[in-house]
Amino acid sequence: MQTKAIYTGSFDPLTNGHMNIITRAARLYDELTVGIISNPSKIPQFPIEEREEMIAEALSFLPNVKVDHFSGLLADFVNQNGFNVVIRGLRGGTDFEYELQMAQMNARLFNEHVETVFLMTDPQYSFISSSVVKEVHALGGNIKGLVPDAILKKMDEALIT
Ligand code: COA
Repeated sequence: MQTKAIYTGSFDPLTNGHMNIITRAARLYDELTVGIISNPSKIPQFPIEEREEMIAEALSFLPNVKVDHFSGLLADFVNQNGFNVVIRGLRGGTDFEYELQMAQMNARLFNEHVETVFLMTDPQYSFISSSVVKEVHALGGNIKGLVPDAILKKMDEALIT
């Protein structure tokens, strides 16, 4: 059976914490889709189409990874596109409580045989979130090494314009 996994998030911006999860998941499954969602509770720095372009560029070295975007329920997107694995990253205890609730709710909504699989974040990235790198960068702090270089370049350009 072909394994088709999806890793979702707002990715505003994609960080090296996300990259770590993506490269590891890409080794585990035949095909991995990075599914960008426009989260109505977050105001994005980059519009979704721009994020999709930036992320596709940063991931172009991974041949079995695709980038897509969606809105609405994750479970609908998963069921309609035949994914059998949903990847989530866990950075620590606070992520766990939220992720458990989400995984259990999604389990009710997913088609049969869809599993949520958790990968533990590499400790060197456990303190990163998209908001924290965005804030530090906007205030002139150095975030090199925390986001892919191609993404940092776009963030630098957005700061100037
Ligand atoms: N490395 C670095 N940062 C990480 C990370 C990792 N391994 N894992 C998570 N993060 C960060 C993200 O960057 C994000 O940071 P931010 O809050 O500063 O933007 C934060 O942790 C939360 O990440 P995540 O849980 O992926 O939130 P999200 O908003 O990016 O995405 C969805 C949440 C898309 C998974 C969820 O809202 C969803 O499925 N929505 C669809 C609607 C739906 O189906 N709802 C019912 C769910 S039961």
